Amino acid sequence: MVGFVTFEGGDGTGKTTQIKALESYLTSRGKACLVTREPGGTELGAMLRRVLLEAGGAPIAPSSELFLYLADRAQHVSEVIRPALAAGKIVLCDRFTDSTLAYQGYGRGLDLALLRQFNGVADAGTRPDLTLLFDCPIEVGLGRTASRQAQSPSGAPQEDRFEREQLAFHEKVRVGFLDLARQEPGRFRVIDAARPAADVSLAIRQVIDEALR
Ligand code: TMP
Repeated sequence: MVGFVTFEGGDGTGKTTQIKALESYLTSRGKACLVTREPGGTELGAMLRRVLLEAGGAPIAPSSELFLYLADRAQHVSEVIRPALAAGKIVLCDRFTDSTLAYQGYGRGLDLALLRQFNGVADAGTRPDLTLLFDCPIEVGLGRTASRQAQSPSGAPQEDRFEREQLAFHEKVRVGFLDLARQEPGRFRVIDAARPAADVSLAIRQVIDEALR
């Protein structure tokens, strides 16, 4: 039985839109689900998210950044994810431990073995049953975030700290995610997110239907 589903991938790969569509699909089929995200799935997490992503903020060293994500996760697991799973809900989580490995490990260059240990402290043994990796070329993803910003009510560019990173950083993150997927083919399903949203939705439903069977 699949209970804990995580959605991973680079910026602008369309995870958030697809999670909402999947929630409606599952709800219409009588499945109770909870949609949440990292960072920012709790009250503490919302504060940490502002610190982590705010445009124009103070410098944050890679290891400080890591501990902020881990603090967000530890709170999120104990306050939101575990209780929802215990109540029998399907938890759909926008980013989780694999983002730490991809961004802080492959992207920033922190030691992967160490990151796995820290992730283990933060998740307290709560591991995803299924992980959908949204993969698309970097230019496509960043192009989507740029057009989203252009449509924001203020019209002013609102790039976050990660969107301001160089293409090379995002490329390392993408390679990292694909590497993680290769290491755990049983848990990961790679979704080609460059396709039109309707096709991506269909692919996700097929994966979920199969997992719930
Ligand atoms: P998003 O929720 O809009 O995708 O933004 C979250 C950003 O935080 C995204 O650029 C990826 C980054 N991130 C990490 O670097 N490490 C992590 O552990 C998590 C959960 C997210």
